[in-house]
Amino acid sequence: MTDNVIQSTGIREVAVIGLGLMGSGIAELVARSGRRVVAVEVSQDLLDQGMARLRVSLDRAVSRGKLTGTGREEILARIRPADDIAAAVANADLVIEAIPERMDLKRTLYAGLDAACRADAILATNTSSLSVTEIAGGTQYPARVAGLHFFNPAPVMKLVEVISTVLTSPDTSQALALLARDLGKTPVQVSDRAGFIVNALLVPYLNHAVRLLETAQATREDIDTAATAGLGLPMGPLTLLDLIGLDTSLSVLEVLQAEFGGTRYAAAPLLRKLCDARLFGRKSGRGFYDYRHSTPAAAAGDHDPAPVPAEVALIRDPDGLLNELASQITAAGIRLTPQPSAATSLVIVAADPKHRVLDAALAAGHPADVVGIRFTGAGDGKPGLTELVLPDVTAPGTAAKARALAAKLGLNAVVSRDRAGFLTATLAYAQFNDAVRMFQDGYASLSDIDTAMMLGCGYPRGPLQMLDDAGPAHVVSVLEAMHAATGDPAFTPVPLLDEYATAGTRFRS
Ligand code: 3HC
Repeated sequence: MTDNVIQSTGIREVAVIGLGLMGSGIAELVARSGRRVVAVEVSQDLLDQGMARLRVSLDRAVSRGKLTGTGREEILARIRPADDIAAAVANADLVIEAIPERMDLKRTLYAGLDAACRADAILATNTSSLSVTEIAGGTQYPARVAGLHFFNPAPVMKLVEVISTVLTSPDTSQALALLARDLGKTPVQVSDRAGFIVNALLVPYLNHAVRLLETAQATREDIDTAATAGLGLPMGPLTLLDLIGLDTSLSVLEVLQAEFGGTRYAAAPLLRKLCDARLFGRKSGRGFYDYRHSTPAAAAGDHDPAPVPAEVALIRDPDGLLNELASQITAAGIRLTPQPSAATSLVIVAADPKHRVLDAALAAGHPADVVGIRFTGAGDGKPGLTELVLPDVTAPGTAAKARALAAKLGLNAVVSRDRAGFLTATLAYAQFNDAVRMFQDGYASLSDIDTAMMLGCGYPRGPLQMLDDAGPAHVVSVLEAMHAATGDPAFTPVPLLDEYATAGTRFRS
C-alpha cells in the first residue's frame, strides 16, 4: 500500500472495535494495507484472545510463504491494542464496529462515539443481521454511518458489502467502497435491507440443509458432499454453518423472518436446539461436526460395508442417461440384465428430480430392490456427483448395496430419500428462486447478485448463472414438484422466474 493510495481514501487510522472472529480478521486486513489500526476490546482478556487470533493468521501467512517475518512484524507494529474505547477512537478517520449482534450494545456504543470521535470520522458497522438504519439511530450524525460487511474468513473472501441507509451521505459510502478496493476487496453497494445480498441468499439455503438433515433425507456428510461435488461449492452447508457460527446464522434467519415472513426463513428446529445447547460450531468446539478431535469424527453406521451385487438390473430410460453406467457395470465384471430376474439384488432406474423414483420402482416390479440414480456435474472439469435415491419402500440394505456398487465403479455417491429435488436440486433451486426474487424486488442487479455469491462465498458461478445453466424451465418444474410434494409455499417459483421460463429467456446469457 503506497502513501498515495492511503491519501486518496483519506483513511489513515482505523479503530476496529470488537476483536472477535471477524474483528480480528478486519484489523489484520487494514494493518496489511499500511494503515494504523487501534484494536479495541472491552477487557484485557478479550483483547489478548483477539490479538492471538490475529497473530495465528499472520503466522499461517508466513508459513505459507505469503508474508515475510519482517512483513509480519511491520503489520503488528501498526496495530495498537487498546481497551479504552474513547481514547482509542479519538484520532480515527474510520471506526469499524464488529461487536456482538445486540442492538442495545450497538446503540450504546454509537451514542458514546458522538462525543469521542472526530466530527468527520466515518462509522461503519460489520453487522451481519441488524438494521444499519437502526444502528445509525444511536448517533446524532447518521450521515456518516454505513454498513461494511466482510465475509468469513475476512482475510480471504474477496467481497465487501457497503450498505447505505436513507441517511448515509454519498461521501461516506464512496469512501468505504474506495477503502474496500484498497484492502484488495470488491465492494458491492446496496441499500439497507435484511440480510443484504449474501446472507439473504446464503442463510436460508443453510437452514434448508439443516431441515434435510433433521427430516433424515440424508446424512450430514452426504448433504455436504452434495453441495461440494454436485454444485461445486467450496464447502458443504453444514460445514459452513459450523464456520460461520450457528448462533450468527440463527440471528440472520430471525431478522429475515421478521422482515419478510413466510416459511422460507423459519429456523429449522434442529438449528435452534443446537444453539440452545451452545453447540455453535467451530468456535465452541462442536456444531454439526465435532472439532475437539483433530479430524471430524465419522458418524457411526453411515457407510456399512456390503458386498457388491453379483447381478444388477438396469432399466433403460429413453434419454440414455444410464448408458455409460451400463458400460461401467459390465466393465467391472458385474452381470447386467435389462429386467430383474430371481438372481437380481439391485434394480437401477434413472432418477429425475421432478418425479418420484417410487413410480419407476413400482413399474420395474421390484420396488424393494430399486435405487434411482442421477448424475450431477459440478462443472469446470471436476468429478461430478452420483445421487442414489431410495424410496422409503426399499428393503433395508438396498442403500448399502447401491453404495457398494458405486464404490466399485469409483463413483462419488450420496444417498438421498426419494423426495422431490433429491439433494442437489432441492438445495440449489430453492436458492435460485430466492435470487430471482431479490432481482424481481429491485434490490440488486443480476451481476451484483452473482458477483456477491462468487466473491463472498466462493461459488464457482453465481446462482443466476447456474440457474441459466440448469435451464429456467427445468428449475421451475422441479420447484413445482417440490411445492406439490411438501405443500411449502417457499418453493413456489417466483413470478419472474416463471415468466422467464415460459418465454425461454435466460438471466445472464
Ligand atoms: N484465516 C486466514 N486465512 C485463511 C483462513 C482463515 N481462517 N482459512 C483459510 N485461509 C487461507 C489459507 O491460508 C489459504 O491461503 P493461500 O491460498 O494464500 O495459501 C486459502 O485461504 C485457502 O485455504 P485452504 O487451502 O486451507 O482451504 P480451502 O481451499 O478449503 O479454502 C475457504 C478455505 C477459503 C474458507 C473456502 O473453503 C471457502 O471459500 N469457503 C466458503 C466460505 C464462505 O462461504 N464464507 C462466507 C460465509 S457468510 C459470512 O461470513 C457472512 C456473515 O455475516 C455470516
